[in-house]
Amino acid sequence: VHGAHWDRLAMLLLYFCHGELLHQVQMAKLYQDDKQFVDMPLSIAPEQVLQIFTELARDHNHSIPREQLQVFVQELFQAKGQELQPWTPADWKDSPQFLQKISDAKLRVWAGQLHQLWKKLGKKMKPEVLSHPERFSLIYSEHPFIVPRGRFVEFYYWDSYWVMEGLLLSEMAETVKGMLQNFLDLVKTYGHVPNGGRVYYLQRSQPPLLTLMMDCYLTPTNDTTFLQENIEMLALELDFWTKNTTVSVSLEGKNYLLNRYYVPYGGPRPESYNKDAELADTLPEGDRDPLWGELKAGAKSGWDFSSHWLIGGPNPNSLSGIRTSKLVPLDLNAFLCQAEELMSKFYSRLGNDSQATKYRTLRAQRLAALNAVLWDEETGNKKKNQEFYPSNLAPLWAGCFSDPGVPDKALKYLEDSQILTYQYGIPTSLLKTGQQWDFPNAWAPLQDLVIRGKEAPLPRAQEVAFQLAQNWIRTNFDVYSQKSAMYEKYDISNGGQPGGGGEYEVQESFGWTNGVVLMLLDRYGDRLTSGAQLAFLEPHCLAATLLPSLLYSLLSR
Ligand SMILES: *[C@@H]1O[C@H](CO)[C@@H](O)[C@H](O)[C@H]1NC(C)=O
Ligand SMILES: *[C@@H]1O[C@H](CO)[C@@H](O)[C@H](O)[C@H]1NC(C)=O
Ligand SMILES: *[C@@H]1O[C@H](CO)[C@@H](O)[C@H](O)[C@H]1NC(C)=O
Ligand SMILES: *[C@@H]1O[C@H](CO)[C@@H](O)[C@H](O)[C@H]1NC(C)=O
Repeated sequence: VHGAHWDRLAMLLLYFCHGELLHQVQMAKLYQDDKQFVDMPLSIAPEQVLQIFTELARDHNHSIPREQLQVFVQELFQAKGQELQPWTPADWKDSPQFLQKISDAKLRVWAGQLHQLWKKLGKKMKPEVLSHPERFSLIYSEHPFIVPRGRFVEFYYWDSYWVMEGLLLSEMAETVKGMLQNFLDLVKTYGHVPNGGRVYYLQRSQPPLLTLMMDCYLTPTNDTTFLQENIEMLALELDFWTKNTTVSVSLEGKNYLLNRYYVPYGGPRPESYNKDAELADTLPEGDRDPLWGELKAGAKSGWDFSSHWLIGGPNPNSLSGIRTSKLVPLDLNAFLCQAEELMSKFYSRLGNDSQATKYRTLRAQRLAALNAVLWDEETGNKKKNQEFYPSNLAPLWAGCFSDPGVPDKALKYLEDSQILTYQYGIPTSLLKTGQQWDFPNAWAPLQDLVIRGKEAPLPRAQEVAFQLAQNWIRTNFDVYSQKSAMYEKYDISNGGQPGGGGEYEVQESFGWTNGVVLMLLDRYGDRLTSGAQLAFLEPHCLAATLLPSLLYSLLSR
């Protein structure tokens, strides 16, 4: 990595990641959404901006009046979003084959419209981002990409996996390859994939799905050359997770290595600065940086925020009780287990047996650890989180279990938790906390986790998977029919309307929601209907089955 690159980064961090300028501007609340300021490009060289700010701060004894800050920002920064331009993917074509698989005419028309949407969600960077990187919080990437939309005009890490699945159904493998190349370039430069394409996201990653993205790209293309060229970057990304997030859990005298979401940086999140600062105001000074680290770790998990992580405070709904890094999440470990399996498959394909063996061993160790620590029903570890979360089914989705009885247990788990009685989609949890990753919101990727996780050989499980797919399609289709938009999340307590809660307004037009709908229409297109009765799945009350402790284990200190 070149020195000049890091100099530039150090300069940008002054504006966008910490420091007095960021603090004064964000605490003045010039904009409704804190993300706005950190997305605005500089109009002039950063050194000059900093000099002007330093003088302004000195003249006002470090307490610059709001009006002066407003003028400062207006004069020296540009409107956000100007650094990206619309891009029509070159590989977009009129009638991808999967549309023909959809028998219901209304659903087929809808799928065609979603396929059209890729053209609206395509973005590429303006040349200025390359020629003047020091003026942008946007991280330059060479290839155009698909964005989620709304507030999120840059790309995001885990979102992109479901976007890519949708793009591949739309037969847009070249677009997928470009997006993958961008991520691999980020690993090369920074050693990991940041949460999203901005410098202020560099402090944290997001659920590790890069290896899976490669696998889904290889399925239709068989592009072994691309795999060969990039396998080392995939390995480097997994090394980052191993080095930065491994934790030893001891149980009955044995130690097991598993992973958690952890971020070693304090300070408020730059894009949610004043919310984080105000939240910390209620705490003693020494507790603030740890709280901010936990908030960043929560954002890293993709579940920002959720009762999932709120285990540390007297008030179970308050964000100040967030303790993300104190839990060993099942979904993260399932994603890594799947990545290890894919790496061993990739290396075998490339004829590198020693590396293939290495990853097979890593996977076997992780499976053993998961069995011992997270699946054990006997230990009665009271600290396990017994709440329902769809991510508890991630091991099935990821093919990461060894006991053949697991699919059956998981089905009982779903039935006992009453989850199947929700007609508009699978809720994110059964707890109503006001956080966006909780009841009553339902999210597309979590529907996929459960539905594909249920595609076990059991006929009843297959039927449940289909019904869940039908419910979700119906919710998305009805809202689309009313509002001509796809949403980031849906409120399933309210007849499946756009969701709410959390830190910002619900976002429209959404990349991963579209991807999941296309996947379901592809898989079940011969059976899904637009006018279907909403399925109310009779809970098979299986008396006295213990809620399997599929969930978490609190770390011993
Ligand atoms: C500047 O601010 C500091 C701390 O708020 C205060 O102690 C000091 O008296 C101020 N100086 C002037 C010249 O107002
Ligand atoms: C994929 O490529 C490899 C070698 O490049 C070849 O052996 C294999 O048959 C191909 N598979 C498919 C499904 O095309
Ligand atoms: C990863 O860990 C290293 C070593 O502790 C640390 O320097 C680095 O900042 C961490 N990176 C991230 C993104 O967490
Ligand atoms: C296997 O991969 C490792 C790590 O990239 C490399 O050092 C080694 O040379 C490779 N071996 C073969 C036989 O390609």
